[in-house]
Amino acid sequence: MSLKCLEEIQNIQSWISRKTSVVCVNVIQETPDVKTFQFKAIEPQLFHFKPGQFIGIQLEIDGEKHNRSYTIASSPTRPHLLELTIKKDTKGTVSPWLHKNIVKGSQLEVRGPAGRFNCLDIESDKVLLISAGSGITPMMSMARFWCDQSSDKNIRFLNWARGVQDIIFRRELALMDHNHHNFDLEVICTMPGLSENWLGRRGRINTTSLADMVPDLKERTVFCCGPEGFMEQVKGCLQALEFDMANYHDESFDPGGKKKAKIASEKEQLEEELATNKAAIGPFNLTFNKTGKTVVVEKEEVLLERIEKEGIAIESACRAGNCGACQVKKLSGKTITANEAGLFGERKEQGYILTCTTHLESDVTLEL
Ligand SMILES: Cc1cc2nc3c(=O)[nH]c(=O)nc-3n(C[C@H](O)[C@H](O)[C@H](O)COP(=O)(O)OP(=O)(O)OC[C@H]3O[C@@H](n4cnc5c(N)ncnc54)[C@H](O)[C@@H]3O)c2cc1C
Ligand code: FES
Repeated sequence: MSLKCLEEIQNIQSWISRKTSVVCVNVIQETPDVKTFQFKAIEPQLFHFKPGQFIGIQLEIDGEKHNRSYTIASSPTRPHLLELTIKKDTKGTVSPWLHKNIVKGSQLEVRGPAGRFNCLDIESDKVLLISAGSGITPMMSMARFWCDQSSDKNIRFLNWARGVQDIIFRRELALMDHNHHNFDLEVICTMPGLSENWLGRRGRINTTSLADMVPDLKERTVFCCGPEGFMEQVKGCLQALEFDMANYHDESFDPGGKKKAKIASEKEQLEEELATNKAAIGPFNLTFNKTGKTVVVEKEEVLLERIEKEGIAIESACRAGNCGACQVKKLSGKTITANEAGLFGERKEQGYILTCTTHLESDVTLEL
């Protein structure tokens, strides 16, 4: 490497921006329906984040805006690239669009990073990573992070895939398993094809196989990610084995049909209420407590978008009420919210609101 090149690398800024323009530099076909998209920041930046965290993207497809979250599958130990590994949901909107349209040279805007499901906020010397399907992405970021540092962390990694051809990161996982004495991988196929010649474990998770694969289960902190049904089964097995669930952490990628339908109907209800609630017809005064500035806001305006329009720094990622990144304390006034799944613990009682899914119903003052 030339001295000039080294100097250029040393002068690159760290990722401080909350909204970053990135360009795709490579696309890897991992399995028939999963691709990894590698991005570089257009303004050179080093991607610093906590392994397991995700970014948010907003896309306009056929004139409609869509917000989605994607875990950063890469590791902050390799900070020049941001990698997203995305499974194509043929019935979905955004993932098929990304698979079709994002090629080398495509540009995107990402927001974040965000998320509490990460291995820096949750610490442990002995971990059990459990994943299925595209739920492998946060585990991969954590595993790459630990292996890159030759960490002493004791890692047991159980990864479920349907068939052999569906195993995401198969070669890299095998190499990590080979190279790191404290990294112990087991891939399990639920339905390997006859011609796939699979010699490893088969079948869905159950208490007997889990206890067999992880004899020191109770000493470990569990990170779990996969389809809702899979995570329910994992929890059921752990409870049956009297695992201390305080040491269990999971992340859901998909609220699932029922929850999605509930969110959609709550959104519809909100729109109906906004259209018919004559008492709260607006416009309203929105006051920012720190500067004392007051602006006039229409009730149809999404609070987050208005805050951004005023040039006030605010974090956001999923922009759908799921991650909690955009939370702000409301000091007074009435608001209405479509989805506040991302508001954890006592934040709601403390007066916090998720601005990405909130509209004003009266004059409001924010702590901002
Ligand atoms: C924190 C987080 C991290 C994530 N990380 C990743 C990742 O690393 N890799 C990855 O591949 N994905 C990840 N996801 C999932 C990702 O955000 C998208 O949900 C996924 O790509 C599907 O989006 P889509 O637009 O293609 O599908 P959508 O259009 O959202 O549809 C998904 C499915 O839901 C059904 N559906 C849609 N609306 C309804 C409704 N109203 N009622 C019932 N069913 C409905 C559709 O038929 C379809 O099968 C993550 C999600 C979260 C929250
Ligand atoms: S940006 Fe994720 S909850 Fe608002």
